[in-house]
Amino acid sequence: MSYHGKKVVILGGGSGMGLSLAEKIVALGGQAVICGRNTAKLQAAADRLGAAVSVSTFDLGEEQAVKAAFDRIGAFDHLVSTAAQLTFAPAVELTTEQVQSMLVSKFWGPFYASKYAAPHIAKNGSITFFSGLAAYRPAPGASVVASLNAGLEGFAMTLALELKPVRVNVVSPGVVDTPTWDFLSDADRKGLLDSVAASLPVGRVGQAADLADAALAVMGNGFISATVLHVDGGGRVA
Ligand SMILES: NC(=O)c1ccc[n+]([C@@H]2O[C@H](COP(=O)([O-])OP(=O)(O)OC[C@H]3O[C@@H](n4cnc5c(N)ncnc54)[C@H](OP(=O)(O)O)[C@@H]3O)[C@@H](O)[C@H]2O)c1
Repeated sequence: MSYHGKKVVILGGGSGMGLSLAEKIVALGGQAVICGRNTAKLQAAADRLGAAVSVSTFDLGEEQAVKAAFDRIGAFDHLVSTAAQLTFAPAVELTTEQVQSMLVSKFWGPFYASKYAAPHIAKNGSITFFSGLAAYRPAPGASVVASLNAGLEGFAMTLALELKPVRVNVVSPGVVDTPTWDFLSDADRKGLLDSVAASLPVGRVGQAADLADAALAVMGNGFISATVLHVDGGGRVA
């Protein structure tokens, strides 16, 4: 599918799956607006990808900043949120501040973004959120992550009715090799990714490009709405 003349806004587009999606949109002839809090990271990505990529810096937890960003961006075609700021720890150890950050990236962000994108998004466009396998395969340390992923899916299903004919979908990744795991030491990161790979039917963890392709699939298919696309290497049944 060609993205010539199309503009895609990617919340979290400065790294991981969002950045891979921006690369693919540009390769398909479209424009991407990559959004996040870290201007230097976003600008470095934009400089690498060229003039079809622009940067918008704001924190998804700041309602007026989100509104102002969408007012500046103006008319566009597709919204994708890969934003996440997550802490993996047992529920009894999580601080309120850590939970607030998680809520911002996976609830308030998608909520504010949908609300303030709605007047600007094309009627034949779409919104795609990213949830995650934790909602389906509980694992110690991921209680809040699981809750937010499940909540995001419920939000999206209802939004598909409220914002129709704009389509609203969710991509649910399994474990994917992205900077999200950079909080681990190199050895722990490799250990985690290797053990997950060995446990999966596909024998490997995901790459950012796998998930970017999944986002393109739901964005580009005008008959897909209110759908959760699982892209987890078979992780739900492993
Ligand atoms: N990687 C995995 O194994 C995995 C597994 C299951 C689900 N997922 C989900 O898949 C999605 C993409 O994951 P990923 O690994 O590609 O993510 P990632 O590389 O960690 O990128 C997430 C982006 O979110 C942005 N962000 C975080 N909090 C924000 C805030 N308050 N306001 C604005 N931007 C914010 C960050 O940019 P700034 O630093 O510039 O703010 C960052 O670039 C996420 O929703 C994640 O939960 C990932």
